Amino acid sequence: MLKIVTIGGGSSYTPELIEGFIKRYDELPVTDIWLVDIEEGREKLEIVGSLAKRMVEKSGLPIKIHLSLNRREALKNADFVTTQIRVGLLDARIKDERIPLKYGVIGQETNGPGGLFKALRTIPVILEICKDMEELCPNAWLINFTNPAGIVTEAVLRHTSIKKVIGLCNLPIHTKINIAEMLGVERERVQVQFAGLNHMVYGLNVYLDGANVTKKVLDILTGDTKGAIDMNNIPDLDWEPEFIRALGVLPCSYHRYYYQTQKMLEEELEAYKKNGVRAEVVKQLEGDLFELYKDPNLDIKPPQLEKRGGAYYSDAACSLIDSIYNDRGDIQTVNTQNNGAIAGIPNESAVEVNCVITKNGPIPLTVGELPIAVNGLIQQIKSFERTTIEAAVTGDYHKALLAMSINPLVPSDTVAKQILDEMLEAHKEYLPQFQH
Ligand code: G6P
Repeated sequence: MLKIVTIGGGSSYTPELIEGFIKRYDELPVTDIWLVDIEEGREKLEIVGSLAKRMVEKSGLPIKIHLSLNRREALKNADFVTTQIRVGLLDARIKDERIPLKYGVIGQETNGPGGLFKALRTIPVILEICKDMEELCPNAWLINFTNPAGIVTEAVLRHTSIKKVIGLCNLPIHTKINIAEMLGVERERVQVQFAGLNHMVYGLNVYLDGANVTKKVLDILTGDTKGAIDMNNIPDLDWEPEFIRALGVLPCSYHRYYYQTQKMLEEELEAYKKNGVRAEVVKQLEGDLFELYKDPNLDIKPPQLEKRGGAYYSDAACSLIDSIYNDRGDIQTVNTQNNGAIAGIPNESAVEVNCVITKNGPIPLTVGELPIAVNGLIQQIKSFERTTIEAAVTGDYHKALLAMSINPLVPSDTVAKQILDEMLEAHKEYLPQFQH
């Protein structure tokens, strides 16, 4: 018996996960997949759950799909729990992305003011899930895909007794696949030494068959191959070639928010006028996806799902579970407890870093000191993350104000307070800890 429980099972991403488990069945013989959601997600759960059942039926494999609105019933004796929840659904994300724009600030749902609020809404719910896990499946691994993934992972590490938690993002694997395509080689031949924080991760070195090709990759990144390394959800603005050369390491797509703030803001405002904020685009895309999912003849993951930013999610999640289950000892990039891997970041904090994946979990590979030019930003984001977690668990207004003010996308204390006050009001239904 190998039991997987997916909280937020009604998500449009679920077919990714199911496809991944079907593909790997020979080595990862999953017997039961429980897709769990809340009452508001019932309809989506039924639609995507039926598609999951058709996908499994087509495969002919003995995997049982269970649909449930009862989290506690589902969690009993789970081996792996994956979380992919969105507290307040996409309507809350629309507010996360729209309100800051009124003040001339990028919302960014994972690491801007939007990310702060997503964390404030999400952390209490994740901590509740952890309490249930401590009681009902104390030996299970928690694989968290819920954003902001790094912050959520650190909240679990600092505020629960669960040690078997891993935060997962598709960005590193996506970047590695992009690099392989750009070099015209199979992805297995490429290794990227990633280090940093979630959505704040740098590729310190890139290797092809063991040879260091970092410079070549940076040249391509700044050359004519525009869009070579890009996420679907982030505008692929050109980098200043001399800046990238000076930096000497590979930035991730999210770094554009910090190094190109003004241009990104203009881009977002323009996109907003045309099609709405990203959450509105995603809402439309999700509506279309669910229409497709309803088709009783559909029994595969539709290619349209790849338009979401989370493409390759199944590769990331299923490879990780496979490597833990089979004690593979391969290298994957995950969010885990730093434990000294990156100098200058507290041992207890979560970092996104290459790890050897074993049956006892990820063992981070030592990075040592980060280049001085990138360390400052990483430290500031880590302060933002830690302050955010404190605000989420205490409901302390001043901590939330501090988190908002130290976020590099927010230009001043006054603007921070204005955005904070408006967002606290807009989201109050999902922020019980602040209602005192
Ligand atoms: C990337 C990030 C994810 C994020 C997603 C947003 O994949 O790594 O953390 O959730 O983009 O994509 P979306 O399609 O929802 O805008």
